[in-house]
Amino acid sequence: MFRLWGRIRWILRGFKRMCLFLARFWDDRYYTQRDMDRWKALGAKIGKDVQIQHLKVDERFARLLEIDDEANIAEGTNILLHDSSLNNLFGEECPVKFGKVRIGKAAYIGRNAVILCGVRIGDYALVGAGAVVTADVPDYGVAVGVPAKIVGDTRDLKEKQKKQIENQEGSPYRFLRIKRWHERHKIMTNDEVEEIYQGFFDKVGW
Ligand SMILES: CC(C)(COP(=O)(O)OP(=O)(O)OC[C@H]1O[C@@H](n2cnc3c(N)ncnc32)[C@H](O)[C@@H]1OP(=O)(O)O)[C@@H](O)C(=O)NCCC(=O)NCCS
Repeated sequence: MFRLWGRIRWILRGFKRMCLFLARFWDDRYYTQRDMDRWKALGAKIGKDVQIQHLKVDERFARLLEIDDEANIAEGTNILLHDSSLNNLFGEECPVKFGKVRIGKAAYIGRNAVILCGVRIGDYALVGAGAVVTADVPDYGVAVGVPAKIVGDTRDLKEKQKKQIENQEGSPYRFLRIKRWHERHKIMTNDEVEEIYQGFFDKVGW
């Protein structure tokens, strides 16, 4: 009986994998589904419409990880749920430290960030690329650097960007107005990529 149930589950899992594999051809959101299924299976709490790309987490302690709805974790991010550094140096005198990591609703974690155990990243907060986050980031906080410091508010960054868009004369940047990742089927269509290229290469030279 148990063996039959095991077989059925094995077949269903295979079917799900095949569907996810095929789904990625028409909807980019399934790119990251396998990563998320993996962390969920290990006990992490992951909300709706979350995007995770190649996240590194302490697998055995994945239950200490909570990611709220619509959070977005860019490639190469490293989340630590424990710290055994002192224990490795001094043994039982210094126990291994553990701490939950909580990523708030719609928070954005930039590429290659490192988040240490016990840290909460607030709702709508932003962690800059390459930051090492050692302390909580408040809701709407912008944290950058090593160790990360709070340098602003995402609502102010939004206003700053609006001004950049109004005055692009001499700017090294071009902008593409699209919906958020989870509200689209494709991260960017080929036409949109082409539109961006046009912005850079419609003139000869730089
Ligand atoms: C944090 C971030 C949003 C700031 O954007 P911004 O306000 O336009 O940044 P600016 O270039 O105007 O920099 C503002 C200041 O923050 C510093 N800064 C910006 N990003 C930083 C980072 N990741 N680490 C350390 N310092 C950073 C700049 O050096 C500058 O400092 P200064 O005022 O002393 O000169 C952006 O730099 C970032 O890291 N975005 C994440 C990108 C990413 O990982 N994308 C993944 C693929 S989508």
